[in-house]
Amino acid sequence: MTFKTLDQANLQDQRALVRVDFNVPMADGRVTDDTRLKAALPTIEKLRKGGAKVILLAHFDRPKGKRVPEMSLKPVVEPLAKLLGAPVGFADDCIGEAAKAAVEAMAPGDVLLLENVRYHAGEEANDPELAKALAANGDLYVNDAFSAAHRAHASTEALARVLPAYAGEQMRRELEALDAALGNPKRPVLGIVGGSKVSTKLDLLNNLVGKLDKLAIGGGMANTFLAAQGIDVGASLCEHDLADTARQIIATAKEKGCELLLPIDVVTAEKVEPGVSSTVRELDAIGAQDRILDAGPKTLARLIAAMDASATLVWNGPLGVFEVPPFDKATVESAHHAAKLAKSGALVAVAGGGDTVAALNVAGVTGDFTFVSTAGGAFLEWMEGKVLPGVAALTR
Ligand code: 3PG
Repeated sequence: MTFKTLDQANLQDQRALVRVDFNVPMADGRVTDDTRLKAALPTIEKLRKGGAKVILLAHFDRPKGKRVPEMSLKPVVEPLAKLLGAPVGFADDCIGEAAKAAVEAMAPGDVLLLENVRYHAGEEANDPELAKALAANGDLYVNDAFSAAHRAHASTEALARVLPAYAGEQMRRELEALDAALGNPKRPVLGIVGGSKVSTKLDLLNNLVGKLDKLAIGGGMANTFLAAQGIDVGASLCEHDLADTARQIIATAKEKGCELLLPIDVVTAEKVEPGVSSTVRELDAIGAQDRILDAGPKTLARLIAAMDASATLVWNGPLGVFEVPPFDKATVESAHHAAKLAKSGALVAVAGGGDTVAALNVAGVTGDFTFVSTAGGAFLEWMEGKVLPGVAALTR
């Protein structure tokens, strides 16, 4: 993968249009999780140090081409300025007079955030005219939004064709980590895929069985695989209509030499409630009212042994209903073990996807993983083996 980085750019006095992902969790107009703001800091700081004028482009939510006041990026200004320790200006449109005047007033090292690019319909349409209008305020383009790179939008794709384009620091870190996990990994490579439904992760599973040495399947989706093999999963979440698909994935894994690790025992309860009494069941003893809510102890021990025997781990999706203890056990204990191995240098451990990051946060180990992606959908599409338009535009 070849793309230009900021080390190759002349930054002094340059107007750098930087696409960041500030699609952050917000409640009552306040940012409630600043992970993505923090992720943008290395790029912003590097540009400021180099003497560039830093003009930030971002989207928030899905206003569908209209000015929806609740979807303004304004609430990001204050927390970003605090993190940066420097003022952050704001223009209430990303193109036109407001943007032009604000950019013209900038000095080298200044930071300006432009209003939600998705207020313009041309953004999602990847409209070259919008890209041109955005480019009018920049000398160079930096894409630091890996987590929005699965969208071919004007500020993530078309703009890279209008201005000299560079990968920002977060983008570079994401691409390097993902390459180390699936592109050119140290083998053996173990994957963990969890979550509730097979139907949302079909492409991902099909791609992974061709690339991994071992793949552990957990969460609700494992029930579909168990049922497809004739196991009675009782009242558990299960996509019975996908039995053929599950069997086909099992067959492909065999053909490609990927060892599938399906649950060998499970934790069940009749209700999903915190602290509810739960039972460990063998697969042939699941009752009609039982719901499978976590992987069992034998399954967990086998997964931990698989981690010990692997050089690389790529993880997407929880192994059980981690939001409701005690059904967080398999997810939390696996996360602790992976983090311990990663910290000691024995395992390259990479994780990503919305639920996964939340689960690692519950386990309190996010910082110990080799890399945790800030991306949700983009991470999934990358795991599916798809070309991300925002990345392709930088590497052409
Ligand atoms: C995300 O939060 O995953 C990205 O910012 C993309 O947002 P979108 O799904 O609205 O395109």
